[in-house]
Amino acid sequence: MTTVNEQKQIAASKALEFIEDGMTVGLGTGSTAAFFIEQLADKIELENWHIRGVATSFRSEKLARELGIDVVNVDDVKYVDVTVDGADVVDPQFSGIKGGGAALLFEKVVAKISKKNIWIVDNAKLQSRLHDFNLPIEVVKFGSQHIFNFLEDMGLNPTWRSYGDVEKMTTDSNNYIIDAHIADYPNLAELANELDHKTGVVEHGIFMEIADMLVIGDMEVKAKNE
Ligand code: A5P
Repeated sequence: MTTVNEQKQIAASKALEFIEDGMTVGLGTGSTAAFFIEQLADKIELENWHIRGVATSFRSEKLARELGIDVVNVDDVKYVDVTVDGADVVDPQFSGIKGGGAALLFEKVVAKISKKNIWIVDNAKLQSRLHDFNLPIEVVKFGSQHIFNFLEDMGLNPTWRSYGDVEKMTTDSNNYIIDAHIADYPNLAELANELDHKTGVVEHGIFMEIADMLVIGDMEVKAKNE
């Protein structure tokens, strides 16, 4: 029986097999992505690889730089070859919820310019439905109480994302995050569409049609359309 941390490390090392010398690699955020960044840094040093990293958060950028990875600005690359990122929950249809670590906006931006997206998660994160994780919604500060009220009226029982003593945490883009309770919401594609069109919502954590590959702990690697 492997531990959760072992599953995360195994997933990270399996994802590393899809990285080649010369690639531009998207660096995800979270504890699982951190294992990948560490393993990638070791590989770069061992094999003398030339890899450019595009970070999905300030903390992943800091970690990668500390480990000697060449981190470049997202706007200085035409595209990203492969992004390796974690997720909070994934389903067998390759959809997922992200943003538990508050990095959903940069994560989605980098994912959308990536030729391939690999998600690495521990075994417990594969679930038949995504609804049991609260949905992170990133909103601009201006007028954010109105978005909060709108989500409340939708029956989504929203809460402000806090951090320690800070009642409303601020993201890398200086926005707030509202977590919405979606357990009873029937159709997440509809909800994603609604949020995509809501003024003041910067991004939400429903990631559909994005992951190409799921690496779930010590389970078999699943590639989309295989
Ligand atoms: C960051 O905002 C998230 O999308 C993370 O990818 C997610 O929370 C996974 O984090 P862990 O690997 O720490 O569980």
